[in-house]
Amino acid sequence: MNNFQYYTPTKVVFGKETEYQVGKLVREQGATKVLLHYGGSSAERSGLLTRVRTALQAEQIPFVELGGVQPNPRLSLVYKGIELAKEEGVDFILAVGGGSVIDSSKAIAYGLAAPDRDVWELYDHKRKATSCYPVGVVLTLSAAGSEMSNSSVITKDEGGIKRGYSSDYARPRFAVMDPILTMTLPDYQTACGCTDIIMHTLERYFTSKGNLELTDGIAEALLRTVMKNALILREDPQNEEARAEVMWAGALSHNGLTGCGNGGDDFATHRLEHELSGMFDVAHGAGLAALWGSWARYVMSDCLPRFKKFALNVMNVPAKGSDEEIALTGIAAMENFFTQIGMPVSVSGLGLDLTDEQIEELADKCEAAVGGSIGAAKKLTRPDFVKIYQMANF
Ligand code: NZQ
Ligand code: ZN
Repeated sequence: MNNFQYYTPTKVVFGKETEYQVGKLVREQGATKVLLHYGGSSAERSGLLTRVRTALQAEQIPFVELGGVQPNPRLSLVYKGIELAKEEGVDFILAVGGGSVIDSSKAIAYGLAAPDRDVWELYDHKRKATSCYPVGVVLTLSAAGSEMSNSSVITKDEGGIKRGYSSDYARPRFAVMDPILTMTLPDYQTACGCTDIIMHTLERYFTSKGNLELTDGIAEALLRTVMKNALILREDPQNEEARAEVMWAGALSHNGLTGCGNGGDDFATHRLEHELSGMFDVAHGAGLAALWGSWARYVMSDCLPRFKKFALNVMNVPAKGSDEEIALTGIAAMENFFTQIGMPVSVSGLGLDLTDEQIEELADKCEAAVGGSIGAAKKLTRPDFVKIYQMANF
């Protein structure tokens, strides 16, 4: 076994109409003024924002608002949020949305905690956070897992530089998860979300460093559950049970549970994808699906027992042929699943055809972001990044 730490301080309030409790939850945190932070128009259109405002007013909690968070959230709006929150004396950030809104909220919260420093220094890994203002979440999209995770990912407007920063300070104080709120999602976003949840689990599963049987069992059950329910939602997007399964899986997939004792996360596909979505503004989940098969074939021989286990236990591949054949069939089955839910399995499926120069730029940015190397299934460096981008570029 490997030693590990597991820290998940987020209070989860799960189920139908739980958003009505948000005023009380903010009150419990001792907030005196809230920044209500949200995205484009979905939360206003669905009536969710009205319900949240009403819940805050019912508790007599003053708030100011900042909407407009874009997918792949931008640093410029984070700066705006920090300034607004400082002027207004905000001491709590309430994120109403998906991963982008939550991540933007976390970045504003870091900025408020160190008001004389540039918050980008954290994402640029020039310094470490020593505190963070409190963040609460009303989740509208099951995907990024930011509602319980320690990380946030922000894109610098100039140059499309997308960087993540992780620290336990930023784990949300509470996460309100009403699966019904995800019913207004376009099918594409639901599929992107399911892919991201799967990928957070796979990034922890594919390691050559060891395993805990229980952790692996949780990961495999989570993967099977999300895949089954993603297919149900393709046919029946209003299926409440399927929405609930996916939402809970999303939170557990990225709060650390599925990696306890595995000896180190991989996260290479994620880091390669962050450069793609930073440069080309594609949806994160779709970017992951486009790269994963190429990454898997590239690293497979260094992590064969895990790929075989995945093929047998998750993808239900028959135990026939060599370990390598079983592993390859498992990878193809995963890609087949992505195709079934409308996700791409190559870069062309994102509407892109990368030039050699673009691949070099992506690899440069990835190398800078990861500090040289990344990966637990196989340690990858810049030449490997180039090869994987090339393999996926069809
Ligand atoms: O802006 P609105 O109008 O709200 O529309 C959003 C957005 O266009 C829409 N949407 C959200 N909830 C909806 C809805 N539309 C209808 N009904 C609803 N209930 O969905 C679109 C995408 O939203 P976004 O928040 O960008 O998606 P997601 O949750 O997938 O977040 C993606 C971001 O999270 C980062 C990604 O890199 C990306 O920037 N990640 C964050 C992580 C973390 N903090 O732990 C980990 C992840 O691996 C990931 O990197
Ligand atoms: Zn992700």
